Amino acid sequence: MKAVALISGSGSNLQSLIDHAEKIDLDIQAVISNKEDAYGIKRAQKVNIPTHVLIHTQFPSREKFDQQLSQTIDQHSPDIIILAGFMRILTEEFTQKYAGKMLNIHPSLLPKFQGLNTHQRALDAKESEHGVSVHFVTAKLDGGPVIAQARVPILADDTVESLAQRVLIEEHKLFPKVVHWFTQGRLKLIDNHATLDGQII
Ligand code: GRF
Repeated sequence: MKAVALISGSGSNLQSLIDHAEKIDLDIQAVISNKEDAYGIKRAQKVNIPTHVLIHTQFPSREKFDQQLSQTIDQHSPDIIILAGFMRILTEEFTQKYAGKMLNIHPSLLPKFQGLNTHQRALDAKESEHGVSVHFVTAKLDGGPVIAQARVPILADDTVESLAQRVLIEEHKLFPKVVHWFTQGRLKLIDNHATLDGQII
């Protein structure tokens, strides 16, 4: 299945998808970054995936950026758009256009800790566990229907770094698994519900 991946940073989730691509029937046609120094661009180039850099600060508005982003995505006619650490708030128009075919990975047990600095906030809140969620993207930031989560314990001596690392290990397993459900046609967004094999999750 044809995919476009959007990134802003290290791209370790992108790497995991690249590594699993054949097994999960994923054909990543292009990687788009809003940061020119995102290490994920190098990961894509290494395996000859075309890359695009669209620097959001060079656009006069969020709308204009999203329009260009959308045009760039559409050049590759993807069946799935994968937000793999893409740190931008998207316009409603954009999210509606790709409703049901855009997935995001978020490092918290949603609906807890939407937005940024999730690991710090989980530590500050003295949570006993933390984790990662994969969800369909809707206009509400980190608020679309959750598809799957993975949990990790929070340990007494955890720092943001140690916790983030433990969560990332789970991210790298969870994202390919969920993307595979999608490429198999088992995962669908129906009436704003995530469904797997026709059952609401
Ligand atoms: C991950 O924690 C992901 O959940 C979040 O941003 C981070 C991206 O990491 N949305 P990477 O670029 O995939 O290494």
